[in-house]
Amino acid sequence: MNIVTTIAELRELTASWRRAGQKIAFVPTMGNLHQGHLQLVDVAKSRADKVITSIFVNPMQFGQNEDLASYPRTLEADIAGLTRHAADAVFTPTPQLMYPRGLDVQTFVEVPQLGDLHCGANRPGHFRGVSTIVCKLFNLVQPDIACFGKKDFQQLAIIRQMVTDLSLPIEIIGVATERAGDGLALSSRNGYLSKDERAKAPALYQVLQQLKAQIAGGNHDYRALEQQAKAQLAVAGFVPDYVNISNQQSLTLAVDPAEPKVILAAAKLGSTRLIDNLEL
Ligand code: PAF
Repeated sequence: MNIVTTIAELRELTASWRRAGQKIAFVPTMGNLHQGHLQLVDVAKSRADKVITSIFVNPMQFGQNEDLASYPRTLEADIAGLTRHAADAVFTPTPQLMYPRGLDVQTFVEVPQLGDLHCGANRPGHFRGVSTIVCKLFNLVQPDIACFGKKDFQQLAIIRQMVTDLSLPIEIIGVATERAGDGLALSSRNGYLSKDERAKAPALYQVLQQLKAQIAGGNHDYRALEQQAKAQLAVAGFVPDYVNISNQQSLTLAVDPAEPKVILAAAKLGSTRLIDNLEL
C-alpha cells in the first residue's frame, strides 16, 4: 500500500490511475480504524479499481472544549488494517499541509440548514469543518466515488448536499452502520467509555429500536415519543442531547406519517458523546 504524505505525490498517484482509466474510490477517515471503517474500504473496493483512504484528525471540526488533543491516533495499526483490506493508498497529511495559513483565515464550505440542525445546533462550526475538509480532500483526490458510514447520518446528508450544490462529479455511497454484538454502533469514541459506561451504552440503540416499534405500531405523536425516549435514556444513565424523529432528506422534524423518516439521537455517557440513528 502506498503511504502518501505530500500533495504532489497524491496528485501524481491519482493522476496515474486516471490515465490508466481506473475508477477511484475514496474513504476519508480520522484514523483509529475499526470494523466500520474497514467495511467502508471493502465496499469501496467492490465498486472501484483503486481505493484510497485518508487519515486526518481534522482540527477544524473540533470545538474549543472537544477532544482534539486526546482523539486516538493509531497510525501503525490503521496502516496494518488498511493493508489487510487491500486499500491501494492512504493519504496522511499534517494540519500544516491542510491549513498552511491557519484555521482563522481558511476559506470554508458551509451547507446551510442541514448543518444547523441536530448535532449542528450543539456543536457550532463542526459541520463547517467537516464539509471544508471533505471538499478539500475531494479536490485533491478527485475520486469517482466516496464512501461514508450511515452512523454519521447527518454528516452523510450534508456531504450529499455539498456535492449537489457545488456540482462535484462524485457519487456518494452511504454504508450501513457496523454494530457490536450488543447493538452499540462502532465508533472511535467508544474507546473512551469506562467498563461500566460500555455496559450501559447499548441502551441508546435499544431506545431507538423501541421508538421505531412504537411508530410502526401506529403512534404518530412524534414530539411526545421523542420526550419519552429522552426520559428512557436518562434512566439508563445517559445525559440525552437530542432524540429527533426527522424527515430522511430534509432532516427537519417529521410531522407526516407518510414521509420517510429517520430517528437521530445524541447522548452523553460520562464525558463521551455517542450518536446513533435508525431509518424507518
Ligand atoms: O467521519 C469522519 O471520520 C470525519 O468527519 C471525516 C468525514 C473523515 C471528515 O474529517
